[in-house]
Amino acid sequence: MSNPTNRAFWQDAAGVPSAIRESPVPSSLGPHEVLIKARAWAVNPVDAYLQVVALPFITYPAILGTDVAGVVEAVGSGPASQKFRVGDRVLGYAPGRKREGAAFQEHVVLDQGLAMKIPDTMAFREACVFPLCLATAGGALFGSEYLGLPFPGEGKGEGKTLLVWGGAAGVGSNAIQLAKAAGFDVVATCSAHNFELVKGLGAGKVFDYKSPSVIDDVVAELDKRVCAGIFQAAGPQNGVVPCLEIAWRSKQDLFVACANLVPEGSVPQGVRATFVLDTSDERGSYYGTTSKIFADFLPRALERGEYKVAPTPEVVKTKGLEGIQEAIDLLKQGVSAKKIVVEAE
Ligand SMILES: NC(=O)c1ccc[n+]([C@@H]2O[C@H](COP(=O)([O-])OP(=O)(O)OC[C@H]3O[C@@H](n4cnc5c(N)ncnc54)[C@H](OP(=O)(O)O)[C@@H]3O)[C@@H](O)[C@H]2O)c1
Repeated sequence: MSNPTNRAFWQDAAGVPSAIRESPVPSSLGPHEVLIKARAWAVNPVDAYLQVVALPFITYPAILGTDVAGVVEAVGSGPASQKFRVGDRVLGYAPGRKREGAAFQEHVVLDQGLAMKIPDTMAFREACVFPLCLATAGGALFGSEYLGLPFPGEGKGEGKTLLVWGGAAGVGSNAIQLAKAAGFDVVATCSAHNFELVKGLGAGKVFDYKSPSVIDDVVAELDKRVCAGIFQAAGPQNGVVPCLEIAWRSKQDLFVACANLVPEGSVPQGVRATFVLDTSDERGSYYGTTSKIFADFLPRALERGEYKVAPTPEVVKTKGLEGIQEAIDLLKQGVSAKKIVVEAE
């Protein structure tokens, strides 16, 4: 393997400006790894967060970023990696457990299970919107420690309904589409201006989370049905609270998987709720569900047009790693059903 020159988007500590500088790529790949040249990156709320807050599972200096799409440059020797060829167009989830495995670099090492070929017609700016949001939604829905729902293709969801709170968000858009593909009906919340968009992703019934009667309305709707659980996919810091109240007031026993932290003391008696988190140990807790979605479901669903690119990518003006800060700053202003993306060239 030739050893390309590489630059990366570094965060040396929480609270200091990020810096773009050289970062060598390894001279050889592990058997289960692939090396890609990045063509587009997407930014997530966690990237903005890690610039200011030192989370316990992050070791600084760190390279930021989880979401990338690009072209395969080298393939590890293991049998599972052989599904890739040099030149393949792929997307990848790069949770950055090893420093060279984070996304905001010109060349990114991916675990073969967290990379996936994309359709020839799909632009890199579209492909990079999926990784972290899809991994989170997949972990929450199908992970045995969370909702533990059956996977797409297993056909066991029929007749049951999932509540996705925050269906216009990146995580929520993927949760709706994955739940539908697994055979569930979906009730979702979003702003009124996103109703049609969220229905287009597969939600059968949509409520405005800003309505004063939203909790009453959602409880009434869920209790007309057999409900498989609740996924709180978006919201502010205490954004899980409405979902906890819905679970408490519903006559059904509804587990709440939460993309946002569950504040201490906020869970009513009798309600089961868990913060969904990709652990930083070994391959992380999203590995099993994400690699299965990438291997068995998503490529074909995208190829057939059965899975939509959502949220819609919004590409910043500045190209290359120099555009990452612009993208993070734009995200911090707030987005509605948009994914902020940077193209490499
Ligand atoms: N635990 C994890 O592993 C994990 C991983 C990824 C993300 N997250 C977290 O999950 C959340 C969503 O991430 P994301 O990337 O999907 O965010 P995002 O797309 O940037 O979120 C923006 C969307 O959130 C929706 N929203 C805002 N406030 C809401 C509320 N009170 N109720 C329902 N929806 C609301 C908005 O919907 P409208 O436009 O319709 O108003 C907007 O479209 C973030 O807090 C993020 O930090 C957690």
